[in-house]
Amino acid sequence: MFLIRPSERYKTTYLEGLKEFQREGRNLKLDASALEKDFSAFVAMLRSREGSSGLPNGKVPESVFWLIDNSEFIGRITIRHGLNEYLYRYGGHIGYEIRPARRRQGYGKQLLELGLQEARRLGLDSVLVTCDSDNIASRGIIESNGGIFENEVPFQEDTPLIRRYWIKLDR
Ligand SMILES: CC(C)(COP(=O)(O)OP(=O)(O)OC[C@H]1O[C@@H](n2cnc3c(N)ncnc32)[C@H](O)[C@@H]1OP(=O)(O)O)[C@@H](O)C(=O)NCCC(=O)NCCS
Repeated sequence: MFLIRPSERYKTTYLEGLKEFQREGRNLKLDASALEKDFSAFVAMLRSREGSSGLPNGKVPESVFWLIDNSEFIGRITIRHGLNEYLYRYGGHIGYEIRPARRRQGYGKQLLELGLQEARRLGLDSVLVTCDSDNIASRGIIESNGGIFENEVPFQEDTPLIRRYWIKLDR
């Protein structure tokens, strides 16, 4: 099992995973049939987000990695290289997801563990990781990876509180 930057090699299982995410209402901004037609453009766009030029307004550079096991796309982790005000309050440095068909098999914990190693390689000393207070799985993943709870903050009126954790990265 390993992390890899987005690659055309995993087109088939990435697209299978995307369909699973979309069935549960996630990643709806991605047009699966357009990606099917031009996957290389999608991969290039994801990779380009590491650079600071051409980013959408207010976005910070980020590195995207895919978790691969047995040649299959299992999930994604995104590591932002810094925090803007929104990320400091709510989003944190790291976002991740495991494709629905592969959940509850320990992949989420390993995804964050491997992602923290990449964050260290990117030069971060500590990372802010957040999750909704009712996301029990994500809480477990963060806490088992050394997350030190800082606080819970309100987001919107009709959404759960957001739990903010810091994880120190050893040098
Ligand atoms: C959150 C998510 C990444 C978990 O991935 P996963 O591969 O199922 O997680 P793991 O198998 O490593 O499980 C981690 C822990 O959560 C528990 N868990 C997993 N799914 C759970 C669920 N639906 N309800 C309660 N506990 C759950 C596991 O039993 C495990 O607990 P343990 O520490 O006692 O062993 C996955 O559900 C997901 O992608 N959700 C949608 C996106 C999301 O919420 N991302 C996180 C944003 S902060």
